[in-house]
Amino acid sequence: EKGGYDYFMLKEIAEQPKAVADTLLGRIDASGSLSLDELRIPDAELREAEKVVIVACGTAFHAGLIAKYAIEHWTRIPCEVELASEFRYRDPILDARTLVVAISQSGETMDTLMALRHAREQGAKVLAICNTNGSTIPRESDAVLYTHAGPEVAVASTKAFLTQLVACYLVALYLGQVRGTKWGDEIHAVVRELARSAEKVEQVLETMEPVRALARSLADKNTVLFLGRHVGYPVALEGALKLKELAYMHAEGFAAGELKHGPIALIEEDLPVVVVVPSPRGRSVLHDKIVSNIQEIRARGARTIVIAEEGDESVAPYADHLIRIPATPTLLQPLVATVPLQVFACELATARGNEVDQPRNLAKSVTVE
Ligand code: F6R
Repeated sequence: EKGGYDYFMLKEIAEQPKAVADTLLGRIDASGSLSLDELRIPDAELREAEKVVIVACGTAFHAGLIAKYAIEHWTRIPCEVELASEFRYRDPILDARTLVVAISQSGETMDTLMALRHAREQGAKVLAICNTNGSTIPRESDAVLYTHAGPEVAVASTKAFLTQLVACYLVALYLGQVRGTKWGDEIHAVVRELARSAEKVEQVLETMEPVRALARSLADKNTVLFLGRHVGYPVALEGALKLKELAYMHAEGFAAGELKHGPIALIEEDLPVVVVVPSPRGRSVLHDKIVSNIQEIRARGARTIVIAEEGDESVAPYADHLIRIPATPTLLQPLVATVPLQVFACELATARGNEVDQPRNLAKSVTVE
């Protein structure tokens, strides 16, 4: 049932192009407009939403952090993202004009369920993004957009994460569409690129052998740091989470702009630091700033592992290891940038002799608060 792979996680990483394609299927038509008929929240209500609040845990929370960039940029609706376990204890401000989005692979995570119950009690509308048909979270929500990753068996979430991103992009674009956000060239390009994203994930998967070799060479390290900016920041958090849960290593993700406010003190000789570099096209200011960060940490001895777009030559002189990903619009970059980090964590865990599909102390679905 592992389809020839040693672990479910490897199988699920490999299934990502299909999972992404299946989640897009039938949701974007030939003219590039979105149809999410399954959403039971009427367009009129979506037009009136004044705020979006995303609640989720773990990897799904990281998908939510990325969604915030897309929702605010494409729709100009304010969006907050909160850990589901913190949400209701804070007495959040919610009303009928708040759209709450609960993201959950299993649909059974108790923290997320309690957060959505609280939101509905306050009169908010709840949209679930979920991978498990008929599970509790979609049953208790006003609407659901299913991800079509298929069953995810490995405890560490991989293909479900990429499909959560796709679903978040679809929701963001759909909100823009029903609210009449100006459908400029940028959004047309994004829709076109989204339709090609499965192909790009496939391309990344074909070039992972050097990432595996690199991971094996780091098996006796104690710490790995991850840096990113903009949507690359949640990708860094996700890379660190995967490494913690699978390799049992100290791993931390930082916003690269925060380095100088403290974390740069951690940099020492031969410390592996993974840096997710934004596209040099688009928000090029961020790109140039992160290239300076790479120079700064390398000057202090860090071993730099750089994930950068094909054709971005500016990073090459400062990269001890360079991992290439296909050119992608900035907001969609997490779909391709996360994949090498999953492979990296999986291979490091194997090299350390860990049980990849069943990391210690963890359960696939966390049904206690
Ligand atoms: C990490 C991981 C967890 C889950 C989290 C939420 O690889 O799998 O962090 O993402 O427990 O689970 P769901 O999405 O089922 O609500």
